[in-house]
Amino acid sequence: MVYTNISLTMKNEIKAAITGIDAYLPEYILTNQELSTLVDTSDEWIMQRVGIKERRILKGEGLATSDMGAEAAKKLLKKTGTSPDDIDLVLVATITPDMAFPSTACLIAEKSGIKNFWGFDVSAACSGFLFTLQTATSFIESGQHKKILLVAADKMSAITDYTNRNTCVLFGDAAVAMLIEPSTENVGVMDSLLQADGSGKDALFLRAGGSLKPASHATVDAGEHYIYQDGKAVFKVAVTKMADASVAMMERNNLSPDDLSWFIPHQANLRIIDAVGKRMGIGSDKVMINIQKYGNTTAATIPLCLWELERTLKKGDNLILSTFGGGFTWGSTFLKWAYNS
Ligand code: ACO
Repeated sequence: MVYTNISLTMKNEIKAAITGIDAYLPEYILTNQELSTLVDTSDEWIMQRVGIKERRILKGEGLATSDMGAEAAKKLLKKTGTSPDDIDLVLVATITPDMAFPSTACLIAEKSGIKNFWGFDVSAACSGFLFTLQTATSFIESGQHKKILLVAADKMSAITDYTNRNTCVLFGDAAVAMLIEPSTENVGVMDSLLQADGSGKDALFLRAGGSLKPASHATVDAGEHYIYQDGKAVFKVAVTKMADASVAMMERNNLSPDDLSWFIPHQANLRIIDAVGKRMGIGSDKVMINIQKYGNTTAATIPLCLWELERTLKKGDNLILSTFGGGFTWGSTFLKWAYNS
């Protein structure tokens, strides 16, 4: 019993810290102006109802999520002076894998020269990053792994119907890679509260292409390989769940809005972000927003925020991350930033 207590204490002293971050953004910029030539929409509607000005789209034959992920991973390895041989685990958050199998983790590792690893994909839609970060945290805190490559990447343009104005204005493509390593300096992932509820399955999903309804001429003709979303239903639940999880996270860690450097929400809709920030009592100057530039990049939204903030973040800065996505899946993570740039 005594030994168990000692080992638990020791284990808790090891935190999982993000020790480096880099991103890959496709060059092609899809503007509201261009979208208004494809469907009956306007810059005014999109800005007022969603807050997106433009998004990146991966163009080019034969390019997939793993290509974006590998570009981000290679930039990260170079930036942090990390040898691919030192990466012992690769975790990929995505709902747009190159194919059902093998995993995107295998493909990204192959393209990045990573050989001494094992790894897998995590499917949690827009909550993919926080779910994968918590998975990485468990592997670090248990002492099983020392240098994890976490990639959050989605090629949403592959499952977006550019004849459907309800969804085509929302999504973009991007990949972010980060290193997760152990730290004994009380920085990194401090706490996490994640949840899922499968009763949300009919509000946000891909109708076909899985084992329930394998792809066929009929499913393709019906556009069932494209994302389906009941926007209003998702909107309401997203605001409540993100705010409730984030408030609970702050309360149980005795954090007030003044203690936070940033609140970093999933970037799905500016109105959702504003509503969540208000419910939490956080001033808009502390709410990170970059949805106008990239749209909803699913697993990559929170990582893109961290990547953009990296140069200004200081070691020990308190960050609350918050997400909501298909499943439903949602949650909040309390992170203490681990380094000065
Ligand atoms: N341009 C112009 N009009 C449009 C557009 C558009 N791009 N899209 C919809 N409209 C129209 C609709 O057809 C409708 O017209 P009607 O009244 O004549 O029928 C009207 O605008 C209102 O449509 P709503 O769907 O009620 O619009 P709403 O204000 O709810 O906004 C949106 C839609 C942006 C999708 C919003 O509901 C939303 O953000 N939902 C949540 C998104 C989210 O958080 N997703 C979770 C993560 S995604 C993931 O997990 C992969």
